[in-house]
Amino acid sequence: MKRRIGILTSGGDCPGLNAAIRGVAKAAYELFDAEIIGIRNGYGGLIAGECQEMSKKQFSGILTLGGTILGTSRQPFRTIQVIDETGVDKVAAMKKTYHDLKLDCLITLGGNGTHKTANLLSQEGLNVIGLPKTIDNDLSGTDFTFGFHTAVEIGTEVIDRIHTTATSHGRCMVIEIMGNKVGWLTLYAGVAGGADVILLPEIPYDIKRVAETVETRAKSKKAFSIIAVAEGAMSKEEAKMKKKEREAYRASLPYDCISKRIAAQLQELVGVESRSVVPGHIQRGGSPCAYDRVLATLFGVHAAELIRDEVYGVTVALSGNNITHNKLSDIAGMPKPVPKDNTMVLTARNIGITFGD
Ligand code: F6P
Repeated sequence: MKRRIGILTSGGDCPGLNAAIRGVAKAAYELFDAEIIGIRNGYGGLIAGECQEMSKKQFSGILTLGGTILGTSRQPFRTIQVIDETGVDKVAAMKKTYHDLKLDCLITLGGNGTHKTANLLSQEGLNVIGLPKTIDNDLSGTDFTFGFHTAVEIGTEVIDRIHTTATSHGRCMVIEIMGNKVGWLTLYAGVAGGADVILLPEIPYDIKRVAETVETRAKSKKAFSIIAVAEGAMSKEEAKMKKKEREAYRASLPYDCISKRIAAQLQELVGVESRSVVPGHIQRGGSPCAYDRVLATLFGVHAAELIRDEVYGVTVALSGNNITHNKLSDIAGMPKPVPKDNTMVLTARNIGITFGD
């Protein structure tokens, strides 16, 4: 049985992409007569026809490698069906590349936006299989995405290192963790790093409540405080605003990120010396942790099994201890915010962590 497989990585990168690519390829070569075509820079490469036939040895030695050997780009879903100024019909161009390459299927590794486009291409008649990656862990249908646990490790190490200097100086340290729309990463890294306050986009905060926690600690034997804030966290007032109004309000403030703003507010309200730290893309860089190497391999191998069984229009998922798959149409466009009654949220509350609500 021969299969020609196109593979691409799309959206923000994360550790584990190469491990997943390797998993798909190694299992495909084992399970059937596979030909693999690497598509450069995500859907951009599929649109432009930037592809290359890969050899078996190109999938060797990449298990621990960060980033993606295929390159990636962001192609926002809202623009994918829009004919751009150069007159390119992106959907038609992607279908043409797929057919010109005589592909039997297309494997797309990505997050929410990637899955929406994967679903669209599937509805357009292409054989598509998705693999869920992102440090944000915000894809529905899977317990975890690969990349998430590595980012949790990195976020936790940042908090650990900040903890010691915060203690020495008796300062309030505000650490901004990635996650614009969802707070899974901040929640896990915050709990793992022993944060005193965790602020998430899903739980709007009152800065006075945060200040109370910092003040109580400042007056106690523990003069320092650790605040883990998601980049997309918002105050209760901001939560009432429409998105555009909120953006305009933020642009009017003298801070370019939420952690600087919170540090300044706490210094003013409590009088405790405060600093902000933004690890940023460090959270997406470097080698995947062991968990992500394993998860990415499990996902990749399952994708190859699905190709063998000609099961398309699906995305691979982790459900409990099982590797399974969901229909793309069931999960595409369905983000996974942190529920307010999530076990981790309740656990954090039960050990005295405040969410500022
Ligand atoms: O989706 C992953 C993510 O790292 C988010 O947490 C973050 O908001 C965003 O990507 C940053 O995107 P970019 O790499 O385009 O700056």
